[in-house]
Amino acid sequence: MKKTFGIIGAGNIGQTVARHLLKVGHRVILANNSGGDSLAEITRSLGAGAVAGTARQAAQADIVLLSLPWSQVPTLKDITDWTGKTVIDATNHFITYAPDFKVEDLGGKASSEVVASLLPGAKIVKAFNTIFYKTLAEDPHVAGGNRALFVSGNDQTSKSEVISVIASLGFAPIDLGTLSQGSKLQQAKGALATLNLIKY
Ligand SMILES: NC(=O)c1ccc[n+]([C@@H]2O[C@H](COP(=O)([O-])OP(=O)(O)OC[C@H]3O[C@@H](n4cnc5c(N)ncnc54)[C@H](OP(=O)(O)O)[C@@H]3O)[C@@H](O)[C@H]2O)c1
Repeated sequence: MKKTFGIIGAGNIGQTVARHLLKVGHRVILANNSGGDSLAEITRSLGAGAVAGTARQAAQADIVLLSLPWSQVPTLKDITDWTGKTVIDATNHFITYAPDFKVEDLGGKASSEVVASLLPGAKIVKAFNTIFYKTLAEDPHVAGGNRALFVSGNDQTSKSEVISVIASLGFAPIDLGTLSQGSKLQQAKGALATLNLIKY
């Protein structure tokens, strides 16, 4: 079934995932920080099925994708009642970028557990965070195999929904289990971070 995805963060990752979703007929609402006219060129280049909106409007979509900087996630807390919403967390908890790429000290928590605590009631599914956006943008069908995308989440129904969307895009979803287990492997500095694997 075709769905509407609310994409909060319309930069490298947000636009890349939007392109894959649009290709198979989903609709996307893109939101950024600057708002208004700043999204016109982006939605035009994405084509039919892409519209601009506020973060609040994007948060009303069937499924929400978080593709904004880590430091900005707390701004989403009160924009909606997150209860029951499937939220794909593609963020990485960097507090500095090149060349040192420092991550926030989360006291042993998974970054997606922190996101879950910031969006009470949301069903957080970690995905789309491990691969450089230019690689993610490429055709997921590679030499007879499919590019792997890791998925973790505590709510089985939401995780299954995201797994089936990812498979429909042509990627090979790999279920890593819960946020406390799997997403720690996926997140920045985790053992599976940045890996570009093909499943045959
Ligand atoms: N780049 C990658 O290859 C990659 C791969 C995996 C995961 N990630 C993660 O994905 C996230 C986004 O990375 P990116 O490279 O796509 O960043 P980016 O290109 O800098 O884009 C960030 C987007 O977030 C928007 N934004 C900032 N604050 C916001 C707010 N408060 N509300 C709504 N939107 C807001 C920005 O809007 P404005 O342009 O208006 O400021 C921009 O559209 C980060 O957490 C990053 O760690 C990135």
